[in-house]
Amino acid sequence: MRFDGKTAIVTGGSEGIGFAIAEGLAGAGARVVLVARREDVLKQAVDALGENASYVVGDVLDDDTARRAVAHAVDTYGSLDLLVSNAGTLMPGAVAEQPLEQIDAMIGTNLRGPISFVRHAAPAMGDSSAVVIVSSATGRMPMAGQGIYGATKAALNYLVPTWAMELAPKGIRVNGVCPGGTYTPALRAAISAIPGLDDITVRTNLIKRIANPSEIAHPVLTLLDNSVSGYVTGSVWDIDGGYQRGRTG
Ligand SMILES: NC(=O)c1ccc[n+]([C@@H]2O[C@H](COP(=O)([O-])OP(=O)(O)OC[C@H]3O[C@@H](n4cnc5c(N)ncnc54)[C@H](OP(=O)(O)O)[C@@H]3O)[C@@H](O)[C@H]2O)c1
Repeated sequence: MRFDGKTAIVTGGSEGIGFAIAEGLAGAGARVVLVARREDVLKQAVDALGENASYVVGDVLDDDTARRAVAHAVDTYGSLDLLVSNAGTLMPGAVAEQPLEQIDAMIGTNLRGPISFVRHAAPAMGDSSAVVIVSSATGRMPMAGQGIYGATKAALNYLVPTWAMELAPKGIRVNGVCPGGTYTPALRAAISAIPGLDDITVRTNLIKRIANPSEIAHPVLTLLDNSVSGYVTGSVWDIDGGYQRGRTG
């Protein structure tokens, strides 16, 4: 796959799954704009990606972050062709007991954030552009203790085909992915907060291990590449080691 001449925005591109996607894009010739809150981590990521990468510091909770990121991509590189909405946060807790601030943070980051980015990016994107939304296997199957997180991701799974319908006339394809457990800073933090989470994650999928970020990034790149996935839009791919079958079978 090659992305020469294409410009991509990757939210949450400084670490974890987002960084693996950005690395794949930059390695295949794309110019990449990373968006995240911590500038020191963004700087390290851009240094690792090389001269065709830059960053915008901001919280996806803030609608202005999306506006600034799109303006940066167009002003710096002359176009915006690819959007990967990946930034997300998981704060475990029972729905009835979780503090409202955490509920607002998850809805804002995981749902309002992608909505802002698609709203600002779509008008700047031309024919043969592509969007990938990073959702979650938890958005497919409810899990006690992850109700609000799962609800935000289920909402994204609903929005992906909606956006595909709304943006098809502009030549923009919109797809999503639902990763299962993937070794990233977020999962490592969750495993240390919830003893046994890694065992549960391994037991409930068919491949019997946790994914590496590159195993999520490769299908995302496939969806972004018009030359291989030009006929795919409105779909949400499960990249979860068979998690749904593992939990039910
Ligand atoms: N890892 C898994 O097992 C797993 C499974 C299913 C789905 N997912 C989904 O995959 C996506 C990436 O997860 P990950 O595990 O790679 O997470 P991660 O390791 O915590 O990385 C998250 C990235 O997003 C950025 N970010 C977080 N909140 C942000 C905000 N409000 N505004 C701007 N940037 C923000 C972080 O940078 P800053 O902190 O500097 O902002 C970082 O670059 C998320 O949507 C997550 O729900 C992950």
